[in-house]
Amino acid sequence: MKTIHIRTSKPYDVLIERGSIAKCGEYISSVTKSQKAAVITDDIVGGLYSEAVCASLRSCGFDVGVFTFPNGEASKNLDILSKIYNYLCEFGITRSDSLIALGGGVVGDITGLAAATFLRGIDFVQIPTTLLAQVDSSVGGKTAVDIPGGKNLVGAFKQPVLVICDSNTLSTLPEAELACGMAEAIKYGMIRDKELFKLIESYDISNVDEVIDDIVYASIDIKRDVVEHDEFDRGERFILNFGHTLGHAIEGWHNYTDYTHGMGVAAGMCMMTDRFCAPELAERLRRCVTAYKLPTGTEAPMEELLPYCSVDKKRELDSISFIVCEEVGKAEIRRVKLDEFYRLMGV
Ligand code: GLY
Repeated sequence: MKTIHIRTSKPYDVLIERGSIAKCGEYISSVTKSQKAAVITDDIVGGLYSEAVCASLRSCGFDVGVFTFPNGEASKNLDILSKIYNYLCEFGITRSDSLIALGGGVVGDITGLAAATFLRGIDFVQIPTTLLAQVDSSVGGKTAVDIPGGKNLVGAFKQPVLVICDSNTLSTLPEAELACGMAEAIKYGMIRDKELFKLIESYDISNVDEVIDDIVYASIDIKRDVVEHDEFDRGERFILNFGHTLGHAIEGWHNYTDYTHGMGVAAGMCMMTDRFCAPELAERLRRCVTAYKLPTGTEAPMEELLPYCSVDKKRELDSISFIVCEEVGKAEIRRVKLDEFYRLMGV
């Protein structure tokens, strides 16, 4: 087992171990004195893993309940959050009990927000079952739901008490979901770690499973470093948004339907690198992204994408920040006026 200790305002460990889901009760009982554990999951992940999680929790003495909601981003809303609160009342969860988020980013984000707010805050554990959730959303304490005004607009910072990453869960992931997580791993290599990037570019979507534990470990370790320096997203944490300014815009242009977050990030990273960096670097990134069956660009016209960037919650007054990596492993935050951004993007 590999452990990464995250030193945020409330420190916690991330455990990376194949088969750890079946031992989660043991690990969770070492970080909490809870009597009850409410497992929050979706109808796909729950079918695959909730039995193993519940059995392990029960064998360690927890009184276990399960709340399941429909899989997908459409469930990350205030209605499902309210149903989770009602379930926690029915199950009799108290301040000293815990929530267990079992699933991908949607489950982690909404369970984290429930944990941040129910009874003014209770402990929660993340058991991320997608690559994207393991390398990004389960670590760092961002929790949220979507509202009609936009994605992730209602949320809170709430660190989990433990994160359990079982790489065996990644072998049941559809290829497109694995690729989605790989886009974030490529991002970590680009912004901070040329060795990670070299490792990723020497594999492809068909064989990356052989080194996935190393990729998960290196990616989370970079996120640890960034989050420890800027837990509440006031500066340096913004470098995690490489590829995201255009990526979110592309996702929005596609109405968040046929375009995954990873596809948006991959295309966004390539488009920014094409525009601001040496052609050799742009070509190297494109080759890597293509090896993971991710897009290097978009059919969406730039003039239609930019209005989505202007409403992004990262925008401040009349300026916009974005990330440029002029060499692998080095990221720079650039901040320009909105009209200058349009000019730089050729509009
Ligand atoms: N996913 C970006 C962050 O955690 O800040």
